[in-house]
Amino acid sequence: MSEWIDVAPVDAFEEGTVQLLEVGRTEVAVFNIAGEFLAIEDVCTHDGGTLAEGDVEGYEIECPRHGARFDLRTGKVTAPPAYEDVAPFATRIHAGMVQVRDERPDRATG
Ligand code: FES
Repeated sequence: MSEWIDVAPVDAFEEGTVQLLEVGRTEVAVFNIAGEFLAIEDVCTHDGGTLAEGDVEGYEIECPRHGARFDLRTGKVTAPPAYEDVAPFATRIHAGMVQVRDERPDRATG
């Protein structure tokens, strides 16, 4: 399992905003949804769109390229034209920092 990685101080991470970072070799987008921190891989499974630039409605993000939708809590696709899920990432708050971690079993050494 990979290490926890700092995203941003909780105080500086405003509601409704997104932070981008690399976790291992994966681009990850971390969202502040009404004070809840949720993270997914930032690559749409349809054709590689940057999900962080999409519109958020509730817990769903819409890919800005062709409109596929994903659940930010699980990475599950909820609307075509994408059919594969994106990877969800674990988040936590530790010592005033929002942190993210890759918990996918095939990324054991992160
Ligand atoms: S690249 Fe995201 S819907 Fe096409």
